[in-house]
Amino acid sequence: MHDLTWWQHAVIYEIYPRSFQDSNGDGIGDLNGILRRLDYLVLLGVDAIWISPIYPSPMADFGYDVADYCGIDPIFGTMADFDRLLAEAHRRGLKVILDFVPNHSSDRHPWFQKSRSSRHNPKRDWYIWRDQPNNWLSHFGGSAWEFDETTGQYYLHSFLKEQPDLNWRNPALKAAMFNALRFWLRKGVDGFRVDVMWLMIKDDQFRDNPPNPGYRLGQAPHSHLLPVYNSDRLEIHGLVAEMRAVVDEFPDRVLIGEIYLPIPQLMTYYGVDLRGANLPFNFQLLQCAWSASAVAEVISEYQQALPDGAWPNWVLGNHDNARIASRIGARQARVAAMLLLTLPGTITMYYGEELGMCNVPIAPDQVQDPFEKNEPGLGLGRDPERTPMPWDASTAGGFTNGWPWLPLGDEHEIVNVAALERDDNSILRLYRNLIQLRQTHPVLVNGKLEGAVAEQNVLRYERTSDLHPTNKDPFAGTPALHPTNKDPFAGTPALHPTNKDPFAGTPARERLLVLLNMAAEAAQISVKSGTVLISTHLDREGTKVGSQVKLRAGEGLVISLEQSSGGPAVR
Ligand code: GLC
Repeated sequence: MHDLTWWQHAVIYEIYPRSFQDSNGDGIGDLNGILRRLDYLVLLGVDAIWISPIYPSPMADFGYDVADYCGIDPIFGTMADFDRLLAEAHRRGLKVILDFVPNHSSDRHPWFQKSRSSRHNPKRDWYIWRDQPNNWLSHFGGSAWEFDETTGQYYLHSFLKEQPDLNWRNPALKAAMFNALRFWLRKGVDGFRVDVMWLMIKDDQFRDNPPNPGYRLGQAPHSHLLPVYNSDRLEIHGLVAEMRAVVDEFPDRVLIGEIYLPIPQLMTYYGVDLRGANLPFNFQLLQCAWSASAVAEVISEYQQALPDGAWPNWVLGNHDNARIASRIGARQARVAAMLLLTLPGTITMYYGEELGMCNVPIAPDQVQDPFEKNEPGLGLGRDPERTPMPWDASTAGGFTNGWPWLPLGDEHEIVNVAALERDDNSILRLYRNLIQLRQTHPVLVNGKLEGAVAEQNVLRYERTSDLHPTNKDPFAGTPALHPTNKDPFAGTPALHPTNKDPFAGTPARERLLVLLNMAAEAAQISVKSGTVLISTHLDREGTKVGSQVKLRAGEGLVISLEQSSGGPAVR
């Protein structure tokens, strides 16, 4: 018997709150702005929003420097605004995931103020103080240690010096942080995305990191050393399990970990007996080359490495990485959308991806990101992928009545929600249709993935209604085998995007063939007969295919194969 919880079949939409919608004319997005756009998200068809940090913060790292884990920064609104947003999201059937930043606080957090005030303050040990620094490097450049005059010791900061690292070996700190989680869980938030989960525990002997023989010029400066002693330490897994237990005190919540590690190490974050993160973020598609063979390899490697019973997930972009449309071009961005929304498990997308939004060039005098300010000119800055959401073609894109905190770029006159909504062929339509396809064909969520092979530069795989990962057919026969045996949206029928049980009416068995042409030339592929469910070009739905199918340059297809067509078409 297979049970899917909401987050397993969810498409999660990341909102970078500074850039989504401003409601008060200060040029910075806010909670009331998000509230105004909830219906847009419902129409898009996503199930959950993850909001990057909204807590009180001096904004040295735009909210990833938290000064109060249980408050709302006035830039974003008030606690009443948050409560209203949460209620309105829930009323529409949308879940709300918050960002939790446990590795470090702001240097303005009262805890750090106390910690730095005296070596004997009870909060001293809530941070990491040493008489001498070791060679560890900050992710944002330079040493990870800062000398503090008042008490004559160094404190550790894995990021900015305004972001001192918290000491998770201290039980009182741990209890305080877990209580912050409970504060939000009690309010009804549906889970957390945990910032830099793999960095939270450091070597207790503070040994020096060895040099990185693979370092290449142009890489981030902290890559000079291998992070052996300040990342992915064994003790992290006990801590993640404890964090998960806190989240599990409340029903139906999700714990997601931000983890940039190779696949084998990543998988360990599911934890012993899957008691770790529900979803260690899978960033493979952010990092691999854009070719059919490279993506096929990543899919296979990830699938094979998944522990028994672990739930897969896929991510295409976030606020720390170049936008997908800039990495691979506008045409391939549509292929990427089809790839993302036909892979198994939970899907996370980044605001603006549905518009094919590109990185916006940022002039030196417009730079906001501290990473770019610390390490200028290396292309490490993250402002280009954090620019305001273009809602329409007006000067500030409908994002603000004031002056936007980052520029919108010229492209927004064409690439904006209003224009793409008018265009039946737009990438926005494609996203909506793909999300709907995922909802009406749950085989795309939890069916088996067979193949993942490259033919020429076409990526090919099948999704079959064999249960992932136990190999059982989830839909065979009867309602008793229905994945959740209940409508995941029960209770909000009138407001549910499609007002339909996404698992109802599914054929007993399904075989969907996905073909993604990742080249700029057309390709001819042998297939079994079937019917096109969707093309990235949105112009051949319902057409029959026989033994050969021609894919135009940068075209992707999902084909429903006829049941009589025998064994898998994948070679
Ligand atoms: C994570 C965040 C990033 C932030 C860093 C420090 O990687 O995604 O935006 O700067 O942690 O908190």
